[in-house]
Amino acid sequence: MMANARLYSAGQVQALDQSTIAQGVPGFTLMMQAGRAALDEIVRRWPAARRLCILCGGGNNGGDGYVVAALARRQGLEVQLLALRAPDQLQGEAGEAVRFARESGVIIENWHQDVEIPVDTDVIVDALLGTGTRGEIRAPFDDAIACINRSSAPVVALDIPSGLNADTGALLGETVEAVLTVTFIARKFGLYTGQAPDVTGEIVLAPLAVAESTLSESDYVGELLEAARLQGTLPRRRPTTHKGHCGHLLVVGGQPGFGGSTIMSAETAARLGAGLVSLATASVHIPPALTRCPEMMVHEARNGLDLESLVDKATAVLIGPGLGQGAWGQGLMQTVMNAAGPRLVDADGLHLLAAGYAGERRDDWILTPHPGEAAMLLDCSVAEVQADRYQAALNLHRRYGGVIVLKGAGTLVIGGEGPEACFISPFSNPGMASGGMGDVLGGMIASLLVQGLSPLEAAASGVLIHGLAADDAAREHGERGLLASDLACYARRRANPGR
Ligand code: APR
Repeated sequence: MMANARLYSAGQVQALDQSTIAQGVPGFTLMMQAGRAALDEIVRRWPAARRLCILCGGGNNGGDGYVVAALARRQGLEVQLLALRAPDQLQGEAGEAVRFARESGVIIENWHQDVEIPVDTDVIVDALLGTGTRGEIRAPFDDAIACINRSSAPVVALDIPSGLNADTGALLGETVEAVLTVTFIARKFGLYTGQAPDVTGEIVLAPLAVAESTLSESDYVGELLEAARLQGTLPRRRPTTHKGHCGHLLVVGGQPGFGGSTIMSAETAARLGAGLVSLATASVHIPPALTRCPEMMVHEARNGLDLESLVDKATAVLIGPGLGQGAWGQGLMQTVMNAAGPRLVDADGLHLLAAGYAGERRDDWILTPHPGEAAMLLDCSVAEVQADRYQAALNLHRRYGGVIVLKGAGTLVIGGEGPEACFISPFSNPGMASGGMGDVLGGMIASLLVQGLSPLEAAASGVLIHGLAADDAAREHGERGLLASDLACYARRRANPGR
């Protein structure tokens, strides 16, 4: 894993900052490096920019902003600096940054409510609030943030967009909507989860002078999934490999009227390389399933011995899509869960789990709830799940065991307590807000599971391939109108890296 794919809490990054200072790197040097990195990104992206408007708070995030102002001024750019705290109140490195800005010829204006950002501003720099933000956003910061968001100029956030919780990605009130966030030292977990994808824009990491060894010895929360991961984790095929080596997936679900979900799960699993795929569904769905994908073995899902023998032959079972919560689904769920072996439980299967038809906990299952299903499984509200998605996923893991895939922007995978068992996917787009996306995700993860990946690795790689495939598809044809079944061919390409 690349060290810079690690995700940290605000407290862990503050500890990295402190231990770097303790190793002899002055805090002001780090602040200078942060300002330099941010200004370089701005100039690289907006080479014609002449006029910056920089809004600075009273902590070290504000200090970073004063350094950007000073360096920009020294490079001949025009700078308007709006201070939300009297500059003489800034302390420590931030106070040094104020002096550096003054020496560089920066004029400091005090912020007041009637200020509007001039229309000829090329880039706005948000240096109001960083990882030291506590509680709801207070006046006058809320007004300043609203003022930034009213402007049509692009906004670059220093470290995190002001108003965002750096740990949970929750919005603490009025929040800056950036097109670019230059984050310092290490990636904050909260930049990738909750509501963060709406406000961060592109995220660039500026590691500053923090030693590689300090980073690798530090605690962290989890890991950002990267496309390169697929090179090392997907099962290799030898010239002598045959279908018996590539696993047999059984998909169970699809009550009358809900056949598409299981057909999509099963077909996508085949496209991602499962050796054999069986589908047990309502009899009415057998002809369309075979027409759509004759490679599948399609059976009527009936309780009793028929289903037991299908379960016995399968390497793993995906159960839940279109299953319903009535007697038919209840019976199928009990039969599937009575036998040993890995399981992926989705959709109605999760409701049946909450209702007690799937046993209480299991270490070899993967549960794939969206926030609504997660709330139902945890007896809490959707808002509570979304307010701290990491905690919600961890609570699901503690209560039910196995691997939890909490869907939604910044899909989260948690299969244990430590950072090695926590992943976030940064890949997704609004085109994925369409029916069936979860069914194909389940098919991808289950396909990797039967091909021999551990439940955690199958979940992480499946989530990764799903997001990459959706982004590839959207890049080619646009987001609107993206269908879940479009993803299979893009996913196949991603699952064959190096082609
Ligand atoms: N509303 C308004 N002001 C707030 C709020 C809030 N909810 N929470 C904190 N503040 C004020 C504090 O009173 C303090 O003046 O913000 C300031 C602290 O904010 P930060 O600059 O985020 O905290 P600090 O720990 O000084 O710096 C951390 O420094 O290393 C840089 O940019 C990096 O994000 C990092 C930042």
